Amino acid sequence: MSLEVNGTLFPQEPRAGQCLRTFLRELGHFGVKKGCDAGDCGACTVLLDGEPVHSCLIPAFRAGGRAVTTIEGLGGDHGAHPMQQAFLDAQGFQCGFCTAGMILTCASLNQAQRTDLGTALKGNICRCTGYRAIEDAILGKTNVEERVEPGAAFGRSLPAPAGPEIVRGQARYTFDTQVDGLLHVKLLRSPHAHARIVAIDTSEALGVAGVHAVLTHEDAPSVLISTARHEKDWMDPEDTRILDDVVRFVGQKVAAVVAESEAAAEEACRRLKVDYEILPALIDPEQAMAPGAPVIHPDRTAANRVADARRNLVAETHGEYGDVAAALATSAVTYEATFHSHRVQHAALETHGGLAWLDDDGVLNVRTSTQVPFLTRRALSDIFELPMDKVRVFCERVGGGFGGKQEMFVEDILALAALKTGRPVKLELTREEQFIATSTRHPMRVHIKAGADADGKLTALQLDVLSNTGAYGNHAGPVMFHALSESIAVYNCPNKRVDGFAVYTNTVPSGAFRGYGLPQTLIAVEAAIDELARQLGISPYDMRRRNIVKPGDAMLSPPPSEFHDVLYGSYGLDRCLDLVERAMQADGPQPDLSPEWLIGDGVALTMIDTVPPAGHIADATIALNNDGGFDLTVGTAEFGNGTSTVHRQIAATTLATTVDRIRLRQSDTAHGGHDTGAYGSAGTFVAGKATHEAAMRLATELKAAAAGAWLCDTASCLLDDEAVVSGVRRMSFAELAKLAREHGQPFAAHGNSGGTPRSVGFNVQGFRVAVNKGTGELRILRSVQAADAGIVANPMQCRGQVEGGVAQALGAALYEEMVIDADGRVTNPKFRDYHLPSFADVPRTEVFFAETSDTIGPLGAKSMSESPYNPVAAALGNAIADATGIRFTAPPFKPDRLFPALYEKFRR
Ligand code: FES
Ligand code: FES
Repeated sequence: MSLEVNGTLFPQEPRAGQCLRTFLRELGHFGVKKGCDAGDCGACTVLLDGEPVHSCLIPAFRAGGRAVTTIEGLGGDHGAHPMQQAFLDAQGFQCGFCTAGMILTCASLNQAQRTDLGTALKGNICRCTGYRAIEDAILGKTNVEERVEPGAAFGRSLPAPAGPEIVRGQARYTFDTQVDGLLHVKLLRSPHAHARIVAIDTSEALGVAGVHAVLTHEDAPSVLISTARHEKDWMDPEDTRILDDVVRFVGQKVAAVVAESEAAAEEACRRLKVDYEILPALIDPEQAMAPGAPVIHPDRTAANRVADARRNLVAETHGEYGDVAAALATSAVTYEATFHSHRVQHAALETHGGLAWLDDDGVLNVRTSTQVPFLTRRALSDIFELPMDKVRVFCERVGGGFGGKQEMFVEDILALAALKTGRPVKLELTREEQFIATSTRHPMRVHIKAGADADGKLTALQLDVLSNTGAYGNHAGPVMFHALSESIAVYNCPNKRVDGFAVYTNTVPSGAFRGYGLPQTLIAVEAAIDELARQLGISPYDMRRRNIVKPGDAMLSPPPSEFHDVLYGSYGLDRCLDLVERAMQADGPQPDLSPEWLIGDGVALTMIDTVPPAGHIADATIALNNDGGFDLTVGTAEFGNGTSTVHRQIAATTLATTVDRIRLRQSDTAHGGHDTGAYGSAGTFVAGKATHEAAMRLATELKAAAAGAWLCDTASCLLDDEAVVSGVRRMSFAELAKLAREHGQPFAAHGNSGGTPRSVGFNVQGFRVAVNKGTGELRILRSVQAADAGIVANPMQCRGQVEGGVAQALGAALYEEMVIDADGRVTNPKFRDYHLPSFADVPRTEVFFAETSDTIGPLGAKSMSESPYNPVAAALGNAIADATGIRFTAPPFKPDRLFPALYEKFRR
């Protein structure tokens, strides 16, 4: 067979059963991505004789004699195809992992299809954008600003530097490289929720042709670890191993096979014989805390940072200010209810995975899809007792993270395989593995009690939280503490009490996920505020205005924090409330709905500390190039959060140049100083501050050098239009670079940020919904979010972060749900059964910014990537309650969940 790809004939024959996706990638067309390998996401879309198809579903041989077009060939001889240019103009992407497939589908649409984009794009999922920017691209809108003068980049809607590569399919993600002599790793996973491994017979597996090694717990270091990565190791318990001799959830790694091909590794996995001693399993978190319950981690103690292993408690917290019980007894109105949040997944389109190899200097290299390369290097160095300079961890572009890649799920087993075999190795998780064996949001039971006086002033707030951390305690404590802090610290109230328990169960581990616990508790807190307001006849907006903290108020949540570095760097919560209320009251399209539809409004707010506590470190270095441009090196990773754009804007503004003169190198432990990682929205607030400091120091150096040459006072010098100027004198950066060469002393500067003090950011979300009382169907008629991000570094990108956060949260609030059966098995580990929001599912959100200037953040900016998610489910729950008069306490708010109560209330 011969295959024509982008006009070139390839004579290669596909292997028996090989799909077109893998065949095209083996031919070097890396723009063809894998998101699911099941026809559900569209990341693998190519054109077959001009028609978009999911190449993962097409046997490669069926493409014989037909014309295949991948993103690399879409523009033909004319450079960029108009749709590629349209995606650049509109910046219709964030991480960019879906973009190649999305562009190919969009490029093939006819006029009729363009009038029904919901249907036309149902085969292409984007997890990042919320689809508005994609729609803009199709409609030909331009969202980027045209030329921006030197020194004026900050606060402007500048495009992502990687955009041209992304739209052409040339951006390189983790697996977009050919490696000679590569071996493949496949994992055997536990079929049991709880079992001891008695023996593993590897003989048959080792007999499979092409198998190089089978790794079991006997090969793994005995050191206890957490998969969670934090700057401070004490935040997480040591409760697992790379390969353990006890498995505690269905899907846990049992053994790894390293082989010449994926097929050989899979076959060897099937031939492993494991003798398990089945242990009693706990699926329900309530039962996990019951007296006499089986113990999941009997050998762990406080020394392992496990609070009380005998009670399956990995972490707990208790505290009270004032006297909540007494206050409730005398309150004019009270509210009490129990809410249940469910298990949802990040569903980043690029699954976890990486490559590892030993280089000629004996350095262990790991190229991986991570948000935390430096913390992963430190962990690998510790586990394998290697000097830090003998381990390098880096990432290319990352295809989405959302907190799920603040973990070490694959790098440890990759390192073990590379060290054992001495060969380069690759492990790429499947979509099913992603669901059953990585991490999820912590499901929580939240019991709330709240009271207020007759004037609507809160008198009491009490939260009792049970958090299900699953089989391991990665992020268990920090997520629970976070859930119990800003959620109530944003309200003034003299009496507050919290009790929090994070328990082990024999289910897939929970972990870090955008919002980090706040979305779960906000559903309860924001419902309570509304219910108290309703009893008092006060509007939900006014009730909040009467109680929110204002600058000068202590932001309190018990027990007292040991960290006292959270300040009001700027404050825009009141303006966010005003903006949303005004927008919700403004005229809009009137829905044409029958009387069966009940209409209601809801609002919810959130506050978030702009940096995780206990230190978050970032280093940056910047150096002047020979051509008068600059090399900027930072450790933070880019996974669609836009920080690579913002860092260049900060540096260009500080150095009076343009962003195209800033060459950025990032997320590589071999270059630059330490960076805690791209989580907690720290990419702008912390790492951006390090960049700002480095750029300011370099600016001072440049001024001093020019002043030295002119024999004038440095104070008379300033930077302007890519030069140092003093009066009528002007020395360009290129001339300064020449001066540096002559003196043999290059201009370079370093900046650092320790992530303290911290500031607070705010978001307010409003919804108008219609609920069909006969069917439970829910429609979103209006979605508005206002955000206080300080001075907005890049309005276009920040709007995208808000829209993407709302879309992701709406997916969780409306349909997404991981279902776990009584045996602890995830029963829907596929996109099609899990239901990610597609183009047609996501309403457009009106986004507003409250203008503040933060005194702590770089150039007045604050973080804004995880917090837009936080108030969404809470506001939706409030809107549904307003429409129906029924308080639903357990998302997702699917029709079948809403219908029984609606039927009960409204049946005739
Ligand atoms: S990878 Fe083919 S549709 Fe998802
Ligand atoms: S930009 Fe679409 S999945 Fe990330």
